[in-house]
Amino acid sequence: MKVLVTGGAGFIGSNLIHLMLAEAPDLEITNLDKLTYAGNLENLADVADSSRYRFVQADVADANAVDRILADGFDAVLHLAAETHVDRSLEDAAPFLRTNVLGTQVLLEAVRRHGVKRMVHISTDEVYGSAPPDASFDESAALLPSSPYSASKAAADLLVFSYVHTFGLPVVILRCTNNYGPYQFPEKLIPLMIANALEDRPLPVYGDGLQARDWIHVEDYSRAILAALRAGRAGEIYNVSAGRPRTNLEVIRTLLALLGKPESLITFVQDRPGHDRRYALDSSKFRDELGWAARRSFEEGLAATVEWNRANAAWLERCRSGAYRDYYQRHYVDRGKTLASWQG
Ligand code: NAD
Ligand code: TYD
Repeated sequence: MKVLVTGGAGFIGSNLIHLMLAEAPDLEITNLDKLTYAGNLENLADVADSSRYRFVQADVADANAVDRILADGFDAVLHLAAETHVDRSLEDAAPFLRTNVLGTQVLLEAVRRHGVKRMVHISTDEVYGSAPPDASFDESAALLPSSPYSASKAAADLLVFSYVHTFGLPVVILRCTNNYGPYQFPEKLIPLMIANALEDRPLPVYGDGLQARDWIHVEDYSRAILAALRAGRAGEIYNVSAGRPRTNLEVIRTLLALLGKPESLITFVQDRPGHDRRYALDSSKFRDELGWAARRSFEEGLAATVEWNRANAAWLERCRSGAYRDYYQRHYVDRGKTLASWQG
């Protein structure tokens, strides 16, 4: 099966590609990524020469480029490419609308034109907005996004529905909770706190730190995406979660204990405007239909993530300094592997 992954140089995408190359020998993967600040090809350096993998740099909102790539013939598209950081969307929402909304529409149109038989659209639990205490949202909950990021993801979901409804496009939508694990860019809570703590810098906790997120290890989610690719029903939405919500303070205290660093590093800072208090999903539909279950406990997954960041201190440092960005230049541009040449 020829599979196009968009956003494969990011956190979830690179973990997913590793998993597919390791465990799904029937899949041939093309990674379409614009390489924004969040795209890091070093994440895939160990598989860059695999005969089942290739990379093409393109903007998912560039209709000509996407059309050209899709003309190569794909059996399936896994759409992960997005602007993903809520704080950035508060500073400048424009790239979120361009990539998340327009980019999704461009991709849907290309999938339609080229008759791709399957697409998995990667949405987020944030489209439902903040969950009331003790309640969890199932797939029928209203869309009530609160940040420009989540609003752009909700808009993308609505576009997907319109293509499913009007053109019968075979798209499965996944809405997942917060992921953590290897290769997560150190702007998101867990890798940022690990990186700061390793350098004995303050850990900035927004507001009272009692906001709750239902963390899932990225390897568990990557398996969920693979399950959806193989057996998800077209036109269906599936929530995906591990069912273990934790407050930010609980997470940070656990990290500090794992790192052997003092709680005095915790520094309360001004809250994020419009900060969602709690995300919680009912994911029984996905678990029952697809037979999927999270394998990793939060404690084990968090300990492994701390170890991974320790063992990959150079990777973390290159993310922090921006040095990771010259990898693409050296390994792709200097070797003539650009969009113009990718089809050989
Ligand atoms: P990420 O920010 O780590 O990576 C995003 C990737 O998309 C990067 O490689 C970036 O270069 C690429 N990209 C951005 N704009 C692009 C464009 N215009 N064209 C092509 N590529 C572009 O994100 P992530 O955390 O891996 O998230 C992947 C997907 O999963 C996103 O759709 C996100 O909304 C969704 N999601 C993430 C989480 C999470 O906790 N990380 C939770 C639920 C859903
Ligand atoms: P984040 O990783 O940005 O994911 P999201 O906003 O998509 O859930 O943040 C996770 C939680 O951690 C969220 O409640 C905001 C909080 N947070 C902090 O308290 N301090 C920080 O420096 C960051 C980045 C996040």
